[in-house]
Amino acid sequence: MAATTTTIEELPGVGPATADKLKEAGFNDLMALAVASPQSLADVAEIGNSAAQKIVLAAREVVDIGGFETGDVLLERRKSVNKVTTGSKGLDSLLGGGVETQAITEVFGAYGSGKTQLGHQLAVNATLPVDQGGLGGETVWIDTESTFRPERIVQMSLDQELDPEAILQKIHVARAFNSHHQMLLVEKANELAQTDTIRLFVVDSMTSHFRAEYVGRGVLAERQQLLNRHIHDIMRFGDVNNAAIFVTNQVMAKPDAFFGDPTRPIGGHVVAHASTFRIYLRKSKGERRIARLIDSPNLPEAEAIFTITEPGIRD
Ligand code: GTP
Ligand code: MG
Repeated sequence: MAATTTTIEELPGVGPATADKLKEAGFNDLMALAVASPQSLADVAEIGNSAAQKIVLAAREVVDIGGFETGDVLLERRKSVNKVTTGSKGLDSLLGGGVETQAITEVFGAYGSGKTQLGHQLAVNATLPVDQGGLGGETVWIDTESTFRPERIVQMSLDQELDPEAILQKIHVARAFNSHHQMLLVEKANELAQTDTIRLFVVDSMTSHFRAEYVGRGVLAERQQLLNRHIHDIMRFGDVNNAAIFVTNQVMAKPDAFFGDPTRPIGGHVVAHASTFRIYLRKSKGERRIARLIDSPNLPEAEAIFTITEPGIRD
């Protein structure tokens, strides 16, 4: 095996048919194979256990699967984390300075609460240099509800005296037609990140397709499993590219027989545990919105008020 092995086809024992089956099952790169259990590969690729074992070991020779790290090393890694401003100082400070890279920030709330607007503002701001509250990079945006509006990007850019055309060229939008397509688009994003400096990943909405397609208790486990894989794929994108992950989520529209609370976000524990920051948005008077930080590893629960105006998200 060459030291320059980069694709799964180059591994010994992986022929074209096996490669296809592996990719179909989501094992798209060497890292995915290196951390897989041989049994799961054997099942999806319809190969023997020992053949699967050999593939896993070969993948581990190529990629660094990591291990334990000491706290000082982790602190050093934290220093590479950047924060993009939301446009509102209040909201920024609620988040400890802005929306962080290498983390998932989830906003949930009713329709019209401002989730998509916030995404637009972040995509514009991400293009700013790091010392001006940006990430110095571009955005990939998975749009599941066709609510991305380039016109809105133009408005927001003009207000900051940015060239709208140049900003729009830095926002890569893909419409996801169903949950499976949505998951595949993460792979496309990985490809794009090879050539473009992607520093923000927006999924708006992360849960709507899953919610619509997997209805009822019988398919709940499958839905959660797929959602879990999707979230971890996105998380890995954030880690590898030092990108901020911004995902939106709906709340249960009406009181639910099982859960009661109409302000509960969709996605259950899978989404709750994966999100580093969870923000609950609700409408207040007119342009005003209230953001509540629900869950954070190192920040207190608190609220901030911001507005959605023509120029964008403001205090
Ligand atoms: P769903 O996707 O339906 O769940 O809602 P959402 O949370 O994504 O809401 P969204 O971000 O789309 O917010 C829509 C709201 O933003 C509108 O109801 C308006 O109040 C506000 N808004 C959008 N564009 C403008 C604008 O140009 N000017 C002002 N003042 N408000 C705007
Ligand atoms: Mg929306």
